[in-house]
Order: sequence, then C-alpha cells, then structure tokens
Amino acid sequence: MNEETRLLKAQNLTRFYDVSQGLFQPHAVVKALDGVSFSVAAGQTLAVVGESGCGKSTLARQVTMIERPTSGNLQFDGFDLVQATDQQLKDARQRVQMIFQNPFGSLNPRKKVGSIIGEPLVINTELSKAEREDRVRTIMGKVGLRPEHYERYPHMFSGGQRQRIAVARSLMLEPKLVVADEPVSALDVSVQAQVLNLLMDIQQEMNLAYLFISHDLSVVRHIADDVMVMYLGRVAEYGSSELIFQQPRHPYTQALLASTPHLKAQNRQKHITLKGEIPSPLAPPAGCVFHTRCPYANERCAVEIPAHLSLKDGRQIACHGVEEGRL
Ligand SMILES: Nc1ncnc2c1ncn2[C@@H]1O[C@H](COP(=O)(O)OP(=O)(O)O)[C@@H](O)[C@H]1O
Ligand SMILES: [Mg+2]
Repeated sequence: MNEETRLLKAQNLTRFYDVSQGLFQPHAVVKALDGVSFSVAAGQTLAVVGESGCGKSTLARQVTMIERPTSGNLQFDGFDLVQATDQQLKDARQRVQMIFQNPFGSLNPRKKVGSIIGEPLVINTELSKAEREDRVRTIMGKVGLRPEHYERYPHMFSGGQRQRIAVARSLMLEPKLVVADEPVSALDVSVQAQVLNLLMDIQQEMNLAYLFISHDLSVVRHIADDVMVMYLGRVAEYGSSELIFQQPRHPYTQALLASTPHLKAQNRQKHITLKGEIPSPLAPPAGCVFHTRCPYANERCAVEIPAHLSLKDGRQIACHGVEEGRL
C-alpha cells in the first residue's frame, strides 16, 4: 500500500502524564505512549493489542483528538492533527468516531434510542427533525435494530444490542475512521461474534477504517488486516495479520498467542509463558521494556533500547534477539 494513500498516519506518537502527588514529592511521569508509529489505509483495520495498561486507550484518545499528544506526528485524511487549529480539529472530529467498551455506561439512560443515535446530527448538522429521523431509521436498519426500537430506552436492551446502538450512533456523520476501544470485551462470546460480523459488514459497505483495540488476540483474528502489539507504551511487533498470527517473531507476541486458548493450536511457535507481572509504567525497566519477562533476554537487552527494525517480510519489530539472529 502506497504511504500517501494512508488515511491515518502516526509517527513517534508520544503521550506522557504528569502524576506527581504534591509539591514536595519527586516528579513522576507515566510514559503511557512512548514513540509509537503506525498507519491505517482507508477501508482497512489495524488492531492494537497488548495487556491492560500498555497504552491502548491512550492511543485511542490521541487519534480521536480527545487529547493532544505530548509530541510526535499525527496525520488524518491529509490533516496534521498536532498543528491543527481548534476549528480544524472540530471538523476532523466528525470524520473520526469512537465506540467504547462499556455499552452500559456510554448510552444516556434517559434518552430514547432514536434520539441517542440522532444526537450527532443535532450537534453537527442543520438537518430538520424529519430528515434526522429518516437517517436514524436508515442506520438502525443497517445495524440490525428494528423500527420499533426507535422509541425504546437503552435499559431495555441487551449488551450486544446496546453496542449496535453505539455503532449506529458512531456512523451518523459518515466517518472515515472508527476507533473501537475493546468494543466486544464486555459481551458474551456468542454475542461478540455477532457484533464483530456487523462491524465487518459495515466496513465493506461504507469503506470504513477501524482502529480496533483489544487485549484479546482471538477477537482480532478475523477483523484485522494489520496487527500492532504493544507493551508498556511501545510497539513490540507490527505487521500483517497473517504474519503476526502465523509467524510471530517477538517473544512477547509469541507469549500472547500462547496464552490465547483458541489460537494455541495454530501457533507452532515455542510456547512461552510470561513470568511475573507487567512492570509499573511509572518505573519501566531500562533497555528493552520487555526484558524482565523475556526468557531470551541477555545483558544487552537490560541496558539498550531496541530500535524498530523493518524486516524483509514487511513487519516491524523491536527486539535485540531478532536483530542478532538468535530469535
Ligand atoms: N489521565 C491519566 N493520568 C495518569 N496516568 C494515566 C492516564 N491515563 C492513562 N494513564 C496510565 O497510562 C498507562 C496506559 O493506560 P491505558 O492507555 O489506559 O492502557 P490500556 O488501555 O492499554 O489498558 C497506564 O499505566 C495508566 O495508568
Ligand atoms: Mg484501555
């Protein structure tokens, strides 16, 4: 894919949070996102995976312009989002929408489904009430909600149907990119597949791009074109879905796959079990951030931060072991 045709492009995207407790406490900074680069083409899905706390939601907040990055570059649809004026950001925000994990918390319980879905049109367009209702009903049909659902309240719906409502609302302004942060993690496994299928159908129909976030690799297996594996705010491995699932090279990717029950059988790599807990992002390990849990770490891994290598097969990887040819 030609780089110029990329809808979203991030270079060295960085977001730090100052978490100093008080005046006389030492300065404390969480490097939630530390130099992350990736891109998404129109109509394609990039899945971002990694354990809780690795910076996935922080990434989502930068891409959806809820926050401004500490540094780095972020381009969307030809726009430089870091340099953009407030008015430009306001326009760009319409073309990037977000779906959240919790379908119970994200819908206003006092509003009817029709007005929840139509809300973006009230805020961002001059459409008449009748025109809005018309569009809402069209989208409701697309996401598998029935006409009579228009007048109902969110509490009358199951988790899966609530996510359909959230999906419908995210589509109202015809976005080019939808950032979905753990969109099916709160749902039963049987319902997960239905919502994933819906997301894929809509992608086809509307040429939507997804930044699809999940801590669970089995969830992204079918939806992802590319997969980016993160660990403590950094990219461990990033490549096509096929490469990541069939021939993972980074020990962390291999460990994640090995710990995902449905994928275990397909994964012929060595079965790495992660030792210990993910370290505190307030005091990340020196060198490779993964070295404290990596069975292949050597002395160099403990002191030197690995560069992002581009391998011949198109993947990027940050691992001394791979660079040295021993992994
Ligand atoms: N607003 C914030 N202030 C301080 N720390 C934060 C803030 N948001 C996230 N963090 C920290 O940044 C790290 C990454 O968090 P997050 O992006 O939520 O990870 P994930 O979504 O992968 O679980 C965590 O250590 C989290 O505690
Ligand atoms: Mg999160």
